[in-house]
Amino acid sequence: MLERVTESVEITMIGTAKSVFVDTWPGGYIESFNGGKPGEEALVVEHCLVPFYDKKKVALEIGCGGGLWITKYLLNNFAHVIALDVIPKPAALKGTSVTYIELPDDSCNGVGITECIDFIWSFGCFCHLPGQTIREYLRSIYRMLQPDGVAVIMFGNWMRKGHPQQDESTADIREHGEGTIWFYCDAVLAEKWCHEAGFTVKDLMPDYIHTVLHLSK
Ligand SMILES: C[S@@+](CC[C@H](N)C(=O)[O-])C[C@H]1O[C@@H](n2cnc3c(N)ncnc32)[C@H](O)[C@@H]1O
Repeated sequence: MLERVTESVEITMIGTAKSVFVDTWPGGYIESFNGGKPGEEALVVEHCLVPFYDKKKVALEIGCGGGLWITKYLLNNFAHVIALDVIPKPAALKGTSVTYIELPDDSCNGVGITECIDFIWSFGCFCHLPGQTIREYLRSIYRMLQPDGVAVIMFGNWMRKGHPQQDESTADIREHGEGTIWFYCDAVLAEKWCHEAGFTVKDLMPDYIHTVLHLSK
């Protein structure tokens, strides 16, 4: 039987100021898979969420936006759900059992997670964060995840969108594209950063336009 970790883990990261996200998506972004392939949401759910459902376990979503994944999938399939975002608590999560943590700003020192986290989910968030923030986050995720826990994280993948492979330093340079903030990433970089944080890594959807990695200790 694995011991459960109870230390408090601080989320420390230096990303984009929260006002940018609050102003870009008032009320919170909800993934609609616009421009994606038919059935994309179902495919993501089948490969990246369903295998990890466990009504005895605690799930954390990083960058929950308007709350799509929590209200449709996480709340019904985990014992408890914690959500982190830089925006104020979205309407869809009010009155639910979710523990909502509004991150104070781009420097999030002081946000302590004291619960044992078994499953961490993040979709559509890390593609908006610079490489240095992602690396910080991955280190926090490693520390807050239970020894037998799993994190499933989506990363941007510019190579799968036809861009040439870039140097790692490019991942820290903000791109101004398609109305919001993007940072370069690809599967090689994402896997490298996850390995550096200590994780064993598996690509859950190698043919998908984004990279969705399964991280375990
Ligand atoms: C494109 S939205 C995705 C929302 C939701 N996950 C979905 O798929 O519908 C990205 C979200 O990440 C949040 N975000 C940005 N920086 C963040 C950070 N450093 N930590 C946590 N969330 C962050 C934004 O506020 C935004 O709600």
